[in-house]
Amino acid sequence: MGVFHLAWFLNGYSVSHWHGSYAGINKSEWARPDLYVDLTQSLERAGFDALFIEDTAMIEDTYGSSMETTLKYGIMAPKNDPMPLVPLLSYQSRHIGIISTVSTIQYHPFLAARLGATLDHLTEGRFGFNVVTSVSHRVAQNFGYDAHLAHAERYAMAQEWMDAVTALWESWEPDALVLDEEAPLFADHTKVHPVHFEGKYFKTRGPLSTVPGPQRRPVIAQAGSSGPGRDLAARHADMMLALANTPEGMKEVRADMHRRLRSYGRDPGQFKILFMCQVYLGEDDEDARAGHAREEAVRTSPEGLIRQLWTMSYASGGEVDYAQYDLDAPVPSILGNGETTTMKALLADAGTRTLRDMLSGPNKYGYDFIGSSDSVAAQMGELMAEVGGDGYLIFGSTRRTKIAEIADGLAPALRRRGLIRDGYDRGTFRENLLAF
Ligand SMILES: Cc1cc2nc3c(=O)[nH]c(=O)nc-3n(C[C@H](O)[C@H](O)[C@H](O)COP(=O)(O)O)c2cc1C
Repeated sequence: MGVFHLAWFLNGYSVSHWHGSYAGINKSEWARPDLYVDLTQSLERAGFDALFIEDTAMIEDTYGSSMETTLKYGIMAPKNDPMPLVPLLSYQSRHIGIISTVSTIQYHPFLAARLGATLDHLTEGRFGFNVVTSVSHRVAQNFGYDAHLAHAERYAMAQEWMDAVTALWESWEPDALVLDEEAPLFADHTKVHPVHFEGKYFKTRGPLSTVPGPQRRPVIAQAGSSGPGRDLAARHADMMLALANTPEGMKEVRADMHRRLRSYGRDPGQFKILFMCQVYLGEDDEDARAGHAREEAVRTSPEGLIRQLWTMSYASGGEVDYAQYDLDAPVPSILGNGETTTMKALLADAGTRTLRDMLSGPNKYGYDFIGSSDSVAAQMGELMAEVGGDGYLIFGSTRRTKIAEIADGLAPALRRRGLIRDGYDRGTFRENLLAF
């Protein structure tokens, strides 16, 4: 098996793990840069390709029709804007890519294209956008909509958004900058073009008012796994963050994505799929299993069940309040209007099991690896060999103990087996991503 890629999922520039063991001073310091700088440097030491920063701009109140649970536990809120964090992180690191989330309902294409170019300059070619359509009504309402657009329509809008942003990044020809001090000629105006983009949702004249950054186009990531989500990725993205819980599911995503990429005339080798996973490490396998059991006990405790029900309410796009159901009866299988792939996974056995049984069953947010560093490294290698590539998105934590376990325990074990990169020899994020 060859080398695979690693990225870290940071659940937003947000408060999390602010209580419980090893919470450190997260509750008061989450908004300061230090934790994220330390995280970035740890991941770079470990050989990660990227830090991925999730974002959503709302305080959820679907669960129990109230913000109470959200604010009581600090779930996905409060959350700062991740964009200004990006150059702070890149300035304190040298190689790792930084991906920040941009929503197609929050950013006009011109604003996004200019921001993306600016961040690509500031990171010296290490920036990526995670392009999302936003999940819930509350986000849409914060940006002027009465309710969120239907799933299919918002993906149609996202396709158009990507076309407009791409046109702006391409509005400067590669050799438009002349920089001739004698002439003088800074830029050749015949090589900078208005785009006159006019679609159903967006209109922009162009050209982009700044020079594209070192990558010309930041790395584009996409995380929806429904048909329209996959199509958006196949047309525009460099990488996909995919949710699949079995080797068969992962193989299906790869085969389907490669088919879609080819149908758009793209080379599947130029596209990377990272599968979401969670890692539970210990001194040895038994210790790891005990640690996993402790975390599972928390996940299925009364507070844990509330958090899971909260998450389902959010992932339904704010369509279903899971506080309304009897835990000891089955629930209807309603995919809603949010994260349809996530809901499909969460509701897989909705018809046959009670809600409590479903929530107490195995975690459905990707693949679980449990064991000592060395045995998880072996498991990760075996699964990747079976699936065929391209890597993992580790659902991370802001608990420093977890960060150290992965950066200083698992990563060296992976490296000893030749499964992850041994340093970085390329320049930009995209070059590193496509190096193998
Ligand atoms: C790993 C992962 C990360 C995601 N990150 C974000 C995010 O930061 N912000 C957001 O609004 N949606 C996020 N989403 C939601 C997706 O972008 C997508 O809108 C959602 O999963 C619905 O897509 P689907 O129905 O095509 O699966 C994420 C989903 C996954 C699986």
